[in-house]
Order: sequence, then structure tokens, then C-alpha cells
Amino acid sequence: MDGMALTMRLALQRLFVLIVLWPGVFDAAAVAATCTPGAGFYTPEQAKAGQAAYNANCASCHSADLLGNSGPALSGGKFASYVQFTKITPTQLLAFTSAQMPANAPGTLAAADYNNIFAYILAYDKYRPGTQPVSADGMSCLSLLPYPGATS
Ligand code: HEC
Repeated sequence: MDGMALTMRLALQRLFVLIVLWPGVFDAAAVAATCTPGAGFYTPEQAKAGQAAYNANCASCHSADLLGNSGPALSGGKFASYVQFTKITPTQLLAFTSAQMPANAPGTLAAADYNNIFAYILAYDKYRPGTQPVSADGMSCLSLLPYPGATS
């Protein structure tokens, strides 16, 4: 009886490892494979496409020059302090933006618009462009620090 219970438990454990942990390992490998540090944060085309969408959906609160009004600054010294203080990663900031913004209509834009707008913000802040378009996976090895934009 004991032997059989043990066999069952081992079988269940193996099943757990297979179902729960294995896909996790796969995900981690996929993320590592898609983020190439030299490929940059976004493409120039993407940033350009994001400008109109930013002005239409975000500028009312964050202002056209990204220095903020009713919403916090997304550029300059205040944004640099925010990034330094929170140590937020580009992947996290994109996820926050896509889920919580616009603050008066969270999550209502298309994913492509959020990505393009994020590219526009990154370009405005002088993060380096490259060959890889903005995506959660594609930015997983990148950091927003040090802040490359102007802080005064
Ligand atoms: C109705 C006003 C409003 C609109 C429109 C709006 N935001 Fe915000 N946003 C805010 C407020 C208020 C905060 C700070 C509160 C919070 O973190 O939830 C914020 C925070 C943020 C932050 C985090 C920065 C920080 O310092 O906290 C980002 C990034 C951001 N918004 C991006 C966007 C983008 C991109 C859009 C357009 C798709 C957008 N917002 C539209 C009001 C707005």
C-alpha cells in the first residue's frame, strides 16, 4: 500500500513538473532568445507612427512636449527621477501603460498603438533606435538606466 502511494505521489510530482515548470522554462528561453541588446528598443518607423497616436490619446494629460500637466512627465528631469527611483524596466513600463493608460479609458487602445506610442516616448527620451520593434519580449534585456535624455 505504502509503495503504491509513493509511486502515485512521484507520478503526480512528475506531472506537476511537466505541466507547471516545463512551460516556464520554455517561456524564459523564448524571452532570452528574442531580446538582443544591440537591436535597440524600437524602430524609427515605429516611433514616427506613434507620434499622432500619442497626440490624440496621451498629450491632453502628459502634454505635447511630454513634460506633463495633469499627468506626470514622460520626459526630462522628473521622468529621469521617476525611472531612477522606481528602477522600472521598459517591459514593465509598457505593460503598465498598456493596462492603465489612458487614465480615463484604461486599456482601450490596440496593442500596436501602445507599442508605437511607447516607441515615440522612448525616441523623445533619446533611447537608442534599432532594428527591433517595441515588444514586451524584445525589451526584456534592456534597461531605462542611465536616462539618455536632457534633464533640464
Ligand atoms: C486623463 C489623463 C491621462 C491620459 C489621457 C493619459 N494619462 Fe498617463 N498618467 C496619468 C496619470 C494621472 C498618471 C499617474 C498616475 C498613475 O500612475 O496611475 C499617469 C501615468 C503614466 C505613466 C507612468 C509615469 C509616471 O511617472 O507615473 C506613463 C508611462 C503614462 N501615464 C503613459 C501614458 C500614455 C502612453 C498615454 C496615452 C496612451 C497616457 N498616459 C494617457 C494621466 C493620463
